[in-house]
Amino acid sequence: MHKTNTVYENAVTTHRSAESLARAHGFESVAELAEQLPEYAKVIDVGAGASPFGVEVAKLRPDITWVNFDYSYGADPEILKEVSIGAPSNVEYVAGDATKLTDVYEPETFDAVFSYWLLPHMSLDEPGPARAAAEAMYKVTKIGGRISIGSRNDRLRRLFGGKDQYNTESGSSEEFADKIVAGTKLSKSASYLQKLINETATPFFGTSRYAKREGKQKQIYDPKAGEYIPLSSKEGVKIRGRLAIELAKRAYINKRRK
Ligand SMILES: C[S@@+](CC[C@H](N)C(=O)[O-])C[C@H]1O[C@@H](n2cnc3c(N)ncnc32)[C@H](O)[C@@H]1O
Repeated sequence: MHKTNTVYENAVTTHRSAESLARAHGFESVAELAEQLPEYAKVIDVGAGASPFGVEVAKLRPDITWVNFDYSYGADPEILKEVSIGAPSNVEYVAGDATKLTDVYEPETFDAVFSYWLLPHMSLDEPGPARAAAEAMYKVTKIGGRISIGSRNDRLRRLFGGKDQYNTESGSSEEFADKIVAGTKLSKSASYLQKLINETATPFFGTSRYAKREGKQKQIYDPKAGEYIPLSSKEGVKIRGRLAIELAKRAYINKRRK
């Protein structure tokens, strides 16, 4: 089986609603978030995926520039085509690796940096990639700018503060990165579940656009064989069963947390 270390291939390209992401970042609504951004703000959503978050905010604020940054835009042109349909001209789509954000942007470029459900995937195996991405996000944020990175694994569940808040403590992007990685790293049991889900669900849902294109809707990805197999085959049924159990477990855990 083809094994890869690229996080992209382990993190499904999701499309949470704009309102749910605004709330996840600590706002009451997209409208409230849009209101709070400074005039002519430059904003980036790192690991934006297929979410309409930036589009909805940018429609309310034609003066700002919003960058949706995601690895998948380069890896799958179909994803880029789909996500950019109907986007206003103040939204830019940039393909790239979050760990190399500083290769693309100068230090202190953005007034606000958002990132949701990217770092928890990046620290599943080891903290290095998540730490590099967090450091890069810190560096490209203006002094006094805002950084919001989720999902938080603690009860706070959000982080929203000025960059200078960290400067006064330590002035160091390394310390910021350590805090963020610790705050977004999944617990042992959640990591285990997430990996199982990634192994079965992600190759299927994450590449569902490919599957649609190639007329493979009735097939499911078999991670062991490294190929799509019929849903109704013996192995296909087993994978679906395993997937259902993992998703049910996840739903149960989420329900207990609420
Ligand atoms: C779980 S999705 C989250 C999408 C969106 N933020 C949301 O909450 O719906 C994670 C996204 O991170 C992207 N991604 C994974 N590794 C990346 C990397 N190294 N650099 C940039 N994007 C990455 C994936 O392509 C995917 O779209």
